[in-house]
Amino acid sequence: MARTVYLNGEWLPADQAKVSVFDRGFLFGDGVYEVVVAYERHPFRLEQHIARLAKSLVEVGIENPMGVHEWRFVIERLISMNADHHSSIYIQVSRGSSETRTHNYPVGLEPTVFICSQKIALSTKATVDLPPCSAITLQDIRWDRGDIKSISLLGSILLKKQVFEAGSDEGILVRNGLVAEGTASNIFIVVDGVVKTPKLNDWILTGVTREYVFELCRRYDIQIIEADISLNELSESDEIWLTSTTSEIRPVISLNGMSVGEGCVGSLWKKVAVYYERHKSELFTCGS
Ligand code: PDD
Repeated sequence: MARTVYLNGEWLPADQAKVSVFDRGFLFGDGVYEVVVAYERHPFRLEQHIARLAKSLVEVGIENPMGVHEWRFVIERLISMNADHHSSIYIQVSRGSSETRTHNYPVGLEPTVFICSQKIALSTKATVDLPPCSAITLQDIRWDRGDIKSISLLGSILLKKQVFEAGSDEGILVRNGLVAEGTASNIFIVVDGVVKTPKLNDWILTGVTREYVFELCRRYDIQIIEADISLNELSESDEIWLTSTTSEIRPVISLNGMSVGEGCVGSLWKKVAVYYERHKSELFTCGS
């Protein structure tokens, strides 16, 4: 049976949901998106995702088609309409469709809102049992506004292809000699017991999971700072972690084919992963 999706106010079986060929999301990648995870059907940090969606919409000049309560309602309803115990929810808002293809967008288009969910296997494991991963460094070829969660993802897709062809799990992107983020994740390193992550700027997404890791470190007195990270510092770090909604917090034990630290999961990661697991259920039951 086809899963149910949400499209412009309607709840439809996925195979019956249709979008115009003139939709600017299809023609230009003119739109923004969010990915939310639901554990046991409870969306995790939904408010933060809705807020980031609102910010992306403002940045690209698309009118927000819904208020916070309405977003919450449709997302929670979609989760309840599909059978998955744990799922990721994809939310896309494109600028809408016009009669002709023109770069200069007409004002007043009706945005196209699409939401779907898919089963996620990851969260059946406790965070601390997640498998470690490998990464390679790559030049960041994406555009200069990585802070906007744009659906135009060609740069990341080409980079991710290189990552998989190299037999690795994730690409760590470097710009002007400094570490920015992963192709679809934020990055943290550990040096002498201090957790470091790049300062937010136009090239980096304000990850919801990144914020969560900050909260956990502060709560448990783990020293965490925002600072520039050079390629050299990255290669010499004791631990590397990657964070994202769907992969939570993953330890990187191999970088460019060389061991990170001792070449096994780091002690600080283990601590934070335990806290991550402990508080994620607490947070979703509080509705945050
Ligand atoms: N991506 N940076 C980039 C470029 C990302 O694409 C993502 C997540 C993150 C982490 O953000 P968050 O913690 O809010 O998920 C950082 C999602 C999962 C995706 O595109 O599927």
